Amino acid sequence: MLTKDVIAAIEQRCSVHSFTGEPIPEATVGRLVEAALRAPSAGNLQPWKLVVVFKDEVKRDLAGACERESFIADAPVNIVVCLEKGKSEQVYGPEGQVYQYQDIGAAIENMLLAATGYGYGTCWVAAFQEDKVSQILQLGGDLRPVAIVAVGNTDEKQEPVARRNAEDVVRIIH
Ligand SMILES: Cc1cc2nc3c(=O)[nH]c(=O)nc-3n(C[C@H](O)[C@H](O)[C@H](O)COP(=O)(O)O)c2cc1C
Repeated sequence: MLTKDVIAAIEQRCSVHSFTGEPIPEATVGRLVEAALRAPSAGNLQPWKLVVVFKDEVKRDLAGACERESFIADAPVNIVVCLEKGKSEQVYGPEGQVYQYQDIGAAIENMLLAATGYGYGTCWVAAFQEDKVSQILQLGGDLRPVAIVAVGNTDEKQEPVARRNAEDVVRIIH
């Protein structure tokens, strides 16, 4: 059952860096995955593959491939978002290189917001050794792991962190 509307989820989402380890129902993880798959993508190419990791041993290995994020092993699930290499470029040429990462980012953010809606903490982790993650998950050469999304319950006090002022980053043209 969703507990937050989308605006509340956007306002309240923040990264967490510890998890209680309490399991998440697989059906809920399925909803998070569906949220990712609903993301917009250039030409609706959906240049992504997701690897959903519940297995402790594999989560530990993934944590070991991260720079500092050992806490992801404590999350009940790690969702590894992979780029299907070359898919966007085949259609859009060099522009596809830019589009594909926008697509992946949209899918990840959808998942984070859905998880926030369900009351779970998340961390989007990209600081990992790509070759190690590929090896751990036995990814083919056509896939590039782009992010590991750790999801689960947390005891952390979740407080949104400060952002740059709108006046500094927004230009309005009337
Ligand atoms: C592309 C990207 C990569 C990130 N990689 C990491 C990471 O490797 N480790 C980590 O702890 N957080 C990572 N984060 C989370 C950011 O540090 C976090 O979003 C930022 O500090 C703002 O905090 P907030 O998410 O609580 O609003 C990443 C976020 C993004 C968008």
